[in-house]
Amino acid sequence: MHRTHTCGELNLQHEGKNVKLAGWVQRVRNLGGMTFIDLRDRYGITQLAFNEEWDTELLEKARKTGREFVIQAEGTVIERSSKNPNMSTGEIEIRCSSLTVLNASKTPPFTIEDETDGGEELRMKYRYLDLRRNPLKENIMLRHRVNIETRNYLSSIGFLDIETPFLIKSTPEGARDFVVPSRMHEGQFYALPQSPQTFKQLLMVSGFDKYFQIVKCFRDEDLRADRQPEFTQIDCEMAFVEREDILNTFEGFLKHILKTVKGVDIDSIPRMTYDEAMALYGSDKPDIRFGMTFTGLNELTQNKGFNVFDQAELVVGINVEGCAEYSRKQIDALTDFVKRPQVGGSGLVWCKYNADGTLKSSVDKFYSPEDLKEWAEAMDAKPGDLLLIMAGPKDKTRKALNELRLHLAEELGLRKPDEFAPLWVLDFPLLEWDEDTARWYAMHHPFTSPYPKDIPLLDTDPGSIRANAYDLVLNGNEIGGGSIRIHDRDLQKKMFGILGFSDEEAKKQFGFLMDAFEYGAPPHGGIAFGFDRLVAILGGKESIRDFMAFPKNNAGRDLMIDTPSIIGEEQLKELRITITE
Ligand code: AMO
Repeated sequence: MHRTHTCGELNLQHEGKNVKLAGWVQRVRNLGGMTFIDLRDRYGITQLAFNEEWDTELLEKARKTGREFVIQAEGTVIERSSKNPNMSTGEIEIRCSSLTVLNASKTPPFTIEDETDGGEELRMKYRYLDLRRNPLKENIMLRHRVNIETRNYLSSIGFLDIETPFLIKSTPEGARDFVVPSRMHEGQFYALPQSPQTFKQLLMVSGFDKYFQIVKCFRDEDLRADRQPEFTQIDCEMAFVEREDILNTFEGFLKHILKTVKGVDIDSIPRMTYDEAMALYGSDKPDIRFGMTFTGLNELTQNKGFNVFDQAELVVGINVEGCAEYSRKQIDALTDFVKRPQVGGSGLVWCKYNADGTLKSSVDKFYSPEDLKEWAEAMDAKPGDLLLIMAGPKDKTRKALNELRLHLAEELGLRKPDEFAPLWVLDFPLLEWDEDTARWYAMHHPFTSPYPKDIPLLDTDPGSIRANAYDLVLNGNEIGGGSIRIHDRDLQKKMFGILGFSDEEAKKQFGFLMDAFEYGAPPHGGIAFGFDRLVAILGGKESIRDFMAFPKNNAGRDLMIDTPSIIGEEQLKELRITITE
């Protein structure tokens, strides 16, 4: 037997017991006639003690071990003289009677401790070593817990886990497909699924009225902190449901996850329409852990001689509570922030509601103290608050003010990682017009049904149709999205038409789905959660990379296995692929 216990479980109750442990050497400390080894495994760290008075040979052996050696030690659990209250095993150590080196290790390229000296690239290259570090290990364990609780919950309410294929035909989810050449069919390709969307709809036609799958999805799109080319969804679909049923089912799901994984109870999830979210937060995924909602100020600011406001499509502000004492320098820094090209603002007007009740602004030349008072009232400000106002084209200004709001919240510590504020965002527009290609695109995907009341507008005003769709937002991140689907062949055909597919193209790409809809397709709808994103947010982070065991870097590369990579001539020949310069 390699071990009787793990490195995380021994305490004073085990005093006097003879135990065997195995693990990795985190650190060796030589103190005169004594040596201590911190022995690490997945469960924790236990201190091994060696003393020249007990056994000089063994002490020598202990001294010769190095970081990351794999060792096995046997000995007696004794009480420590200097205890470490921060460790579960901090009250004891092992008085060792034997030590076996199971495998030596080269000096690792970076320190494998909670705080490491390794740069990003190096740690990606040696990911298996990075995963030995506590913070990453805990993320992976959190991921496991969310996975298990997801399965438990969905299975307990009747969902069936059904696998769908990875070698499929392109699904129009909005990103590019990764494709796989077929050896047996020259010149033909499979596509890896961007999601199992069409398959889960077919499963509804088959009668599996509650389906789920924790499934890999593949999208060839630009990467960001919350996007990976292969990621995991908790993909779900239900038949004989309306939007309300889906919202209730998955509210239950999120409550269960927050309760079992984080011990957090939440009230029912608030709901907001897309239009409200855009007007109040300038974002379709607002972080509602804090206020600072937008107030439109067009009416209160017009015709006072300030051209910037007079000519703007939108004048909109936020109240930054308690920040009236911001210095010139701090406000200049905020102005620089909004003017960054990625933020896109043209400038920032400020108005301080001083503690003594007076008001002072950067546009005093145009606006009287009475005018400013009106702004303050409209924005629910009180003495001590700072009002920040932006103006310009509506969409651009909202986007920039949203960035500023999040930036300030970050600075002010309002985005608390241990607070969870979910939100349903409903009634998205069904279609988006693209100027470049001069055609409509489905905002979600082409299978999303229009809001029942809006169906007549398909012929007259497609841009104003709302989708029977919903997003679940958690702490300002879109963690899930879905919709009630079209289950009527004619409506689906019409939708493909509006999206610019000829009958022939629609038949070629989605004939299988349209055919299925002729054989008794039930009303159905569903949702998919970004599993990596959900886990990352539960772990208090927004970047998903460290919540996946083996992620890709920002350029979509796996630095450890060094891929994508060139394949051999033989393989290319077999696939009949010619690479041209
Ligand atoms: P959607 O495209 O909105 O919907 O994706 C669902 C959720 O998946 C997550 N997500 C990602 N996570 C990491 N990296 C990515 N590249 C990435 N792309 C998306 C997001 C998102 O909310 N078939 C539909 C769902 C449905 O209608 O039922 C779909 O895939 O958290």
